[in-house]
Amino acid sequence: MKKVLITGASKGIGFELAKFFAKKNHALYLIARDEKKLKKLKKEIKEINPKLPCYILSFDLLEINKIKNLILNIKNRFGTVDIVVHNGGTLVNKSFVKIKKEDLINSFTINYFAPYLITQKIMPILTKKAHVIFIGSVGGINGSVKFPGLSSYSPSKGALITLAECLAEEFKMTNFRFNCLALGAVQTEMLKKAFPKYKAPLSPKSISSFIFDFAIKGGEFFNGKVLPVSSTTP
Ligand SMILES: NC(=O)c1ccc[n+]([C@@H]2O[C@H](COP(=O)([O-])OP(=O)(O)OC[C@H]3O[C@@H](n4cnc5c(N)ncnc54)[C@H](OP(=O)(O)O)[C@@H]3O)[C@@H](O)[C@H]2O)c1
Repeated sequence: MKKVLITGASKGIGFELAKFFAKKNHALYLIARDEKKLKKLKKEIKEINPKLPCYILSFDLLEINKIKNLILNIKNRFGTVDIVVHNGGTLVNKSFVKIKKEDLINSFTINYFAPYLITQKIMPILTKKAHVIFIGSVGGINGSVKFPGLSSYSPSKGALITLAECLAEEFKMTNFRFNCLALGAVQTEMLKKAFPKYKAPLSPKSISSFIFDFAIKGGEFFNGKVLPVSSTTP
């Protein structure tokens, strides 16, 4: 049984991913803001696996000053952590000239500063072969196709991609593994915001099956890698 932290578990990809871990008997610590949706997820998880340790916490990734307390809470309930999936994210779809300072700050706080600081603070309780996975976006990869309206979102994911590479280098003398899965289009609320008329070929369930397998096995084969997980471009 691995102990797994997933951010952004209240809907979309994180919601489905949590259930994959539950089915295979891995203990879960799940965070997002929407407590009602997290409770619904916990109920579904208890139906899948009644005895599984599953903790939920309503936490706003914008509140980066509270990350120390978050980690303390995880430590008290879990002790150590084997897998972290930095899945929580936000997307602003606005033309460049309409982006407000607040949009930019929120995008970078949720998509970059929070995963950065959570990783930093959680390190003392990571197990020796812990696997930290950053959920990036194909749009954050240098040279990929870009789309109008995503000037705050895609660069924040670009920063996350680089972070995975930096951490793998800085901690190469350890057995920690840091990788980034740069996703393409998956049919979720976030995708609707970015591409309202587009129908993605991948569902949250299908991509979660891949993320689950990668989280469990990928650390043996990859470190500091950015894997584009995409079959099409919107
Ligand atoms: N869907 C795609 O096509 C696609 C493509 C590339 C990358 N991705 C990435 O995949 C990840 C999951 O996205 P998704 O498509 O599943 O999106 P989603 O359905 O919109 O879910 C986003 C999750 O992030 C959480 N979140 C957002 N703001 C938060 C905040 N301030 N504090 C805490 N949690 C917050 C949400 O929970 P609450 O609202 O309850 O807080 C929700 O659980 C994201 O990192 C996204 O950038 C998605």
